[in-house]
Amino acid sequence: MHISAKDLAALIPTDFTLGVATAAFQIEGALTEDGRGPAGWDVFSAKDGAIVENHSPAIACDHYHRMPDDVALMKQLGVDSYRFSLSWSRIQPNGSGPVNPAGLAFYDRLLDELLANGISPMATLYHWDTPLALDEVGGWMNRDTSYRLAEFAAIAAAAYGDRVARWCTINEPATVTTNGYTLGLHSPGEALMLNALPTVHHQLLGHGLALQALRAAGVPGEIGMTNVYSPMVPNSINPLDKISAGLMDIAQNRLYADPVLTGKYPDLIRAAKFFSSFEHPDEDMEIISQPLDFYGLNYYMPTKVAVGPGEGAVPSSMAEAMGSDLSAAGNGATPFHVVTWPEADITSYGWPVKPEYMKVALKEMAERYPNLPPVIITEGGASFEDIIVRDKSTNTTFIPDERRLKYLSDHIESALQATAPGGEAEAIDLRGYYVWSLMDNFEWSAGYNQPFGLLHVNRETLERTPKASYFWFQELIEERNLAA
Ligand code: NOJ
Repeated sequence: MHISAKDLAALIPTDFTLGVATAAFQIEGALTEDGRGPAGWDVFSAKDGAIVENHSPAIACDHYHRMPDDVALMKQLGVDSYRFSLSWSRIQPNGSGPVNPAGLAFYDRLLDELLANGISPMATLYHWDTPLALDEVGGWMNRDTSYRLAEFAAIAAAAYGDRVARWCTINEPATVTTNGYTLGLHSPGEALMLNALPTVHHQLLGHGLALQALRAAGVPGEIGMTNVYSPMVPNSINPLDKISAGLMDIAQNRLYADPVLTGKYPDLIRAAKFFSSFEHPDEDMEIISQPLDFYGLNYYMPTKVAVGPGEGAVPSSMAEAMGSDLSAAGNGATPFHVVTWPEADITSYGWPVKPEYMKVALKEMAERYPNLPPVIITEGGASFEDIIVRDKSTNTTFIPDERRLKYLSDHIESALQATAPGGEAEAIDLRGYYVWSLMDNFEWSAGYNQPFGLLHVNRETLERTPKASYFWFQELIEERNLAA
């Protein structure tokens, strides 16, 4: 069971945002229309075997053509805000230089549509779809890409600055580095292992430079960035498991959060020999650690870690790429590995459902970063296979996704409890929760096989059908509005 929508609504502070999230490459389709330039992901996903069952992102949810209808569904849902991402190569086809007016115009229409429907826009500048032209010269291995992101930020600020309420510079750099450059499971498909470290620094620098560009343009919206956070839990009392969990915590969480929030990489990283592979000017750290208006946190699950190489060498925060037999990727190459959570309820991705660890995540963040700005949970959600029930007499369909609904309810409840006065993470000023995702979409290397949506998307007709979780979220928002 889960708490009633009414009781949950009573826990929600005023000015707390309830929203939904998506990303351009996962929903838009129309990859070759209206002057969009190719992204690295277009090429990666066309490689045989890169995506589960070779699913294609060419159409995705066809959101590019159905945008007004999708906004109408958000309006009906009642959300305060919509987090989406700008397709860099739709706006700037080569990732530098001239802009594409037709591409710019799409997000103009989206922003106007959102505002006309009373939905506050949150725009992510970089959600993984690097323009191909930049990937061809090294992508995030190349320091120049950081400056290109700043150039793109300036274009976006000039075009949309008057309407975007919240800016998110980059999304989950950890996943880009780990899946894209360390293990080769995401675009650009590089398996550089430790040599991928420069991509960490360049993404964070790109964040800092983009933030500077947005500030220089004087945009009135709030500016932040998004990191994924997974509490790392030792598999046993074996001290080596504990050390392993600590190493994983550094590699997946602190490597990305410390520089932004404290201006320093974790000591271990600084001390390690391989650090010389990304020597950089001191000023970079100041750029990376400029004050944020909010810190975006994506929370999905905790990760259990054991010493030694083994199956599941892929940390669960990298598991987004998994769908077939990829769990063996990186086998033997790491001194520690991820183990399955005993007796845990799991999603269809195999991710443990542990809402109590939402509290742990927030507590750890509060303890680690005393100067943490307000926090927004920019993503949370679960993939479960859906069953479509048809009522022949009324010719209606119903999608009883109770498990997704409970996942969302339990996680929002945990987050609110932890940050309420007297809670484990009461020091955190929590400002919102965005459900991943508005609709079932192209889940990167897992193709269309991992549905996270509140809306079901029929792969043949592309018709959207609200699931039980959609109606639940709608009720929660209504109750919250009544209580206000
Ligand atoms: C995080 C990513 O930002 C998003 O693109 C992805 O679909 C979800 N996690 C679910 O894996």
